[in-house]
Amino acid sequence: MQVSSSTNIKARCRIVVLISGNGSNLQAIIDHCGNDQSPAEVVGVISNVQSAFGLERAHSAGIDTHCLNHREFVSRAAFDEALAALIEGFRPDLVVLAGFMRILSPSFVDHFAGRLMNIHPSLLPRYPGLDTHKRAIADGAKEHGATVHFVTRDLDAGPVIIQGRVEILEDDSEHTLAARVHEIEHRIYPEAVSWFAAGRLRLQDDIALLDGQPLT
Ligand code: GAR
Repeated sequence: MQVSSSTNIKARCRIVVLISGNGSNLQAIIDHCGNDQSPAEVVGVISNVQSAFGLERAHSAGIDTHCLNHREFVSRAAFDEALAALIEGFRPDLVVLAGFMRILSPSFVDHFAGRLMNIHPSLLPRYPGLDTHKRAIADGAKEHGATVHFVTRDLDAGPVIIQGRVEILEDDSEHTLAARVHEIEHRIYPEAVSWFAAGRLRLQDDIALLDGQPLT
């Protein structure tokens, strides 16, 4: 974030959001950033899937969008390099993964270390990877939820910023449980983003700190 020396007014935290699909978390973040008092603004949305509905959401909100199709690249490394260059073109303070269904290479993660966040639909470290709702129900788990974390080289294992919990009900299907987890996600992700944008949240020595205090 830059500070203007003449006015001493802090520029808003510039956020780039990466998506692959529906973009409901993107929408929650856009809505949260929507008022003039917000310390954050979404300056760009990038999808690896052209048909992602999130691109339409961004377009409707007047946000610059790009599609970078990973299938058009010869390797993960080549895609990640082009993606990093595209993101950097927005001069972001924070890069937010919101349903971006690609594993990112270590060099990409290192490049954005401390300014790269993800949301995962489980109470990490439980259920990293895919099909989290189905696995939680199959295990007979009593609770489930979502986790916002800083992204590090370890998949779905970076320092936790905030978690939201839901009870698993006896008659829950994957679909009903996913819907309740989504509601929680839409509350905790904007909150984590606003902490970062306000300068309250940072990553130091692989620990997430809020107001200087470890979060885990
Ligand atoms: C969210 O539930 C998010 O937690 C999950 O994808 C969904 C995207 O929904 N992310 C992952 O599974 C990443 N491992 P959305 O497109 O409606 O925001």
